[in-house]
Amino acid sequence: MNSPSKVELSAALKASLPSRLLFILHKAGEFCQERRARLFIAGGWVRDLLLDRPGHDIDLVVEGDGLSLAGELARQTGAQITSHGRFQTARLVFEQFTLDIATSRREAYPHPGSLPSVEPAPIEKDLLRRDFTINAMAIAVSGDDFGKLIDPLEGRRDLEEGLVRILHPESFRDDATRIFRTVRYEQRFNFTIEPATLKQLKDDKSYLATISPDRLRYEFECIFNEHAPEKALGRSGELSVLGEVLPELSFQPEQYRWFEAARLYSSPEPPPAAVCFGLLSYHLEKQAAKSLGRRLNLPNETCQVITDALTLKAGLDRLEGAELQPSAVYHLLSGFHLLSVVTCLATESRPAVRRQLERYLDELRHVRPLLDGNDLKLAGVAEGPAIRQVLQAIQDARLDGKAVTLQDEIELVKSLLARRF
Ligand code: CTP
Repeated sequence: MNSPSKVELSAALKASLPSRLLFILHKAGEFCQERRARLFIAGGWVRDLLLDRPGHDIDLVVEGDGLSLAGELARQTGAQITSHGRFQTARLVFEQFTLDIATSRREAYPHPGSLPSVEPAPIEKDLLRRDFTINAMAIAVSGDDFGKLIDPLEGRRDLEEGLVRILHPESFRDDATRIFRTVRYEQRFNFTIEPATLKQLKDDKSYLATISPDRLRYEFECIFNEHAPEKALGRSGELSVLGEVLPELSFQPEQYRWFEAARLYSSPEPPPAAVCFGLLSYHLEKQAAKSLGRRLNLPNETCQVITDALTLKAGLDRLEGAELQPSAVYHLLSGFHLLSVVTCLATESRPAVRRQLERYLDELRHVRPLLDGNDLKLAGVAEGPAIRQVLQAIQDARLDGKAVTLQDEIELVKSLLARRF
């Protein structure tokens, strides 16, 4: 297939952008034209336009001063701006979308895994520093070149052939997060990892050790945001990439089903990252799960979800008893983080256990007495722990259907007071 012409690309670009964004792009193009600086859209947005999958946020690249373009656009539109002088990048946040603006640059990596040092350079050089040929394309959006595709590495051909290909053999050593990105694109687009890239990935996967916990965690979060994260996780397991993050970490066949189930429960939203980490760690011993938490610098709450899920997993058998009262189910589960219960539910295949977990999540955890502590004080319950005990007794009675009306609760309090309180 021939490369799309300037006219075709410019028409596709205009058709895929909301009018507000086109207007801003037009302003940006004028600003750059006046300064004889070329302006481009680069990276994922171009890839997705050529794949006919629009919807991606836009990355603008200027052969000139990206920060002054960002400042001017923020001034004209009232968008919020965040700038990073060191990297010559800025982000504009509008109501409906964000716009990232960067100065076209070349990069050098002083040592593997480090952040790159940067200096201004033409767009063709900027594209050469990127991860894959399919991400190393740009479309000019200023002056007479508007709509022209810049594709120095034949990314469009790889898109057509469905190949994920790195740009040079040192790519993974420069930035080992690209190992996860390779797998993510391969699985998202149903592409193939180009053979030399695959060999390099296998040779260099140990370079994941050079990646900081926060950057590594971000790669997992990106995977979790994919439509079907289990595909990229499974593939990472298959390629022993997960084992480079933590030797004990793998992806077992049943985990595909768990992720699908979690998606079903949280629909239309994707499952929270804490649940995904819970599912990823569900096979691990607690000690290994803690090591994973440290390696990825997981937030405390996520670590809590993971350890709660592992503790709960060991006690789920108790939910199988048919004679279990709702209040007993409540007491078994209420001490655990809610998302750990969701995690266990996604993994569970025994119908009786699933029923109890679902019932807890849908109904039981919401049950509250109508009377409150003040009512109990007025009724003569002594201040202190007794209040909590009576409230719990009322809640249990409600859970088990023994107290339905306000009057039932009052009678229960009276009988408790007569007996003990
Ligand atoms: N990039 C890179 N190396 C990385 C991360 C990003 O070269 N480790 C480049 C790629 O050219 C990529 C661009 O920076 O297209 C923007 O990065 P990002 O927003 O992470 O990726 P997208 O291409 O926008 O892809 P996605 O659809 O996954 O967001």
